[in-house]
Amino acid sequence: MRIFPDLTSCLVLLLLLDLIGLSSSRPAHTPSLCSLIGSMVPHFDRLINLSKKLQELSDEDLSLIAAAEHRLDSLLEIPHTAAAFTQPLKVNEPISQLYNLSESYKLHMDWLKTARENMSLSSQPAEGASHHLLKLTHLLNSSLHQLQEEVPQAAPPSLPPVSTAFDALRFSVEVSEKLRVFVLFAKRWIRVLQKLSCPRR
Ligand SMILES: *[C@@H]1O[C@H](CO)[C@@H](O)[C@H](O)[C@H]1NC(C)=O
Ligand SMILES: *[C@@H]1O[C@H](CO)[C@@H](O)[C@H](O)[C@H]1NC(C)=O
Ligand SMILES: *[C@@H]1O[C@H](CO)[C@@H](O)[C@H](O)[C@H]1NC(C)=O
Ligand SMILES: *[C@@H]1O[C@H](CO)[C@@H](O)[C@H](O)[C@H]1NC(C)=O
Repeated sequence: MRIFPDLTSCLVLLLLLDLIGLSSSRPAHTPSLCSLIGSMVPHFDRLINLSKKLQELSDEDLSLIAAAEHRLDSLLEIPHTAAAFTQPLKVNEPISQLYNLSESYKLHMDWLKTARENMSLSSQPAEGASHHLLKLTHLLNSSLHQLQEEVPQAAPPSLPPVSTAFDALRFSVEVSEKLRVFVLFAKRWIRVLQKLSCPRR
């Protein structure tokens, strides 16, 4: 089920990403950057499963929630203009973008965890996702340090209090749907970054 139609364009763009990297210039290989990037993969894999757990609802509930259109404007958008991927590709740009996105999802996940706790809904999937997002921000932070790039500092989002269980559920659905797209996006980038920073096999 496709809940947020604007995500389709992101998914189309993901296919484009597979083509990049093949033609981009290759910087000198940096083995430790290569291993840092490789160690992000299991965290993204766990996030896919946790995003599914976050929206464990009957199809009926899910369509009810999808119909109650809601947008969490503070959640960083996955870029979906081709201009975001102009050549020549610099390794630091996607890494700082992934850092920004991981940080944004981490903060929203912590908020969602509290919102769910407040409504006596299970908070474990949100807590697990928050843990893996935190690990990812650390790995991305280390990657930026390795590249001697500045670590972006964003102002924390202001998030609304959640006063009903229904709101907690629909925010769960929204965040987890977007999280899945973020993970797909990130994993494509990881593959491109591995091509750029890992020794040729
Ligand atoms: C994700 O869930 C599937 C099926 O539930 C399982 O087979 C797989 O091992 C899980 N992956 C991770 C990384 O937890
Ligand atoms: C990351 O976030 C910072 C702070 O909001 C911003 O200045 C920067 O342009 C962002 N970087 C990317 C690649 O989006
Ligand atoms: C980022 O990494 C540097 C050095 O590895 C460390 O000093 C700093 O505390 C880290 N920052 C965050 C937010 O993790
Ligand atoms: C959870 O409850 C506390 C205490 O009532 C409240 O201050 C907080 O804003 C609530 N959090 C969310 C996300 O609704």
